Amino acid sequence: MKASDLPVGPCRRRELPRLRELLNQVFITERGAGGDIFEFAPLLYSEQNVENLRVVRRGRAIVGHAGILPRRIRWRGQVLHAGLIGGVCCREDLRGQGIGTLAMQDVARRMAQLQLDFGVLWTGSPGFYRRLGWRHGGGISIMRIAEAAGEGAVQREIIPLSDSPLGPADCHALHAGAGRDEVLRTPEETELLLSTGTRDALLALRGGRLVGYAAHDGSTVREIEGDADTCVALLSHAAALGHRLCVFPLNDPRLPAIAQALPVDIQRGPLGMILIVGREGLVAKIAEEAGSSPDDLGIGSDVDTEVLAARLFGSPDDEPTDRPLPMHLHIDYLDHV
Ligand SMILES: CC(C)(COP(=O)(O)OP(=O)(O)OC[C@H]1O[C@@H](n2cnc3c(N)ncnc32)[C@H](O)[C@@H]1OP(=O)(O)O)[C@@H](O)C(=O)NCCC(=O)NCCS
Repeated sequence: MKASDLPVGPCRRRELPRLRELLNQVFITERGAGGDIFEFAPLLYSEQNVENLRVVRRGRAIVGHAGILPRRIRWRGQVLHAGLIGGVCCREDLRGQGIGTLAMQDVARRMAQLQLDFGVLWTGSPGFYRRLGWRHGGGISIMRIAEAAGEGAVQREIIPLSDSPLGPADCHALHAGAGRDEVLRTPEETELLLSTGTRDALLALRGGRLVGYAAHDGSTVREIEGDADTCVALLSHAAALGHRLCVFPLNDPRLPAIAQALPVDIQRGPLGMILIVGREGLVAKIAEEAGSSPDDLGIGSDVDTEVLAARLFGSPDDEPTDRPLPMHLHIDYLDHV
């Protein structure tokens, strides 16, 4: 049977162990990494989400996969329905025959069925997704910390969240108070981000009071809260533990002060790759929020999808003065649990 004729559809509960084996083979064993993908993203790979884990079968074997974690993003006064995509893969010996394409086409169908506004994914292989209609969108700043500098004059006590009497609710209050971007999170969502799977956070205390945190997974700090001095203390500590990368919203005002205090390199890059699924609905939400017509906003029906994605989600070159459009959405891989 040609690969393009293989059946594709939702994973069945009893197939989850076989899916886990494939994912761990591709993302852990092939990469010489450690851990278990199901533990890293337990909400994506959960029994409740099997309908959204789209698998390609060959006989009883699962040979390809692409998963969707539907997630509500509360942006200003609107609720956007996003599909966070993960675990896109094909068994190594069968690559280049169309199996990954089958899985991603099925993901696009499923996202339309779920009436999602857009999908977002993070990848180092944009070419594969580009031919399937995905486009780079949005922007982030990625800071690489060259070396674990001393904590200098910045006086903060740093402790892991897991060893602390404080909890995610305290972090949530800090994050909500800072108004860092236009995405509003619920306390439950912050708790999921900070403590699901292999996630943890470092807390920064001053005089016993919480003044910042750095949420991390593996080698990357995915979200950092606190003023610039607190960030310096947290990042120095995180770097000493091996977390050398930190993701910031694109034009985060704390970046220049941190870069003055620490040996860092900052690169601007896209937020991820985006597929607009429900164009009409998404445009209507943005037009309503902006109080202007889609044509006046430059997001009317005559605009092609490439331009639309850049107009809606922005690009790494955007300056803060580009408000109110594009949307300032900061969705990170951290949200992908
Ligand atoms: C990426 C992956 C899922 C593609 O699966 P696949 O079944 O080989 O893909 P398909 O056969 O459907 O498509 C392959 C086509 O995409 C192209 N392609 C594949 N990977 C590509 C890449 N990284 N960049 C550009 N093009 C790519 C191939 O050239 C091929 O094009 P062609 O049909 O014109 O020859 C597979 O290579 C894989 O499992 N990789 C390891 C896991 C991984 O990195 N996943 C992505 C994480 S975001």
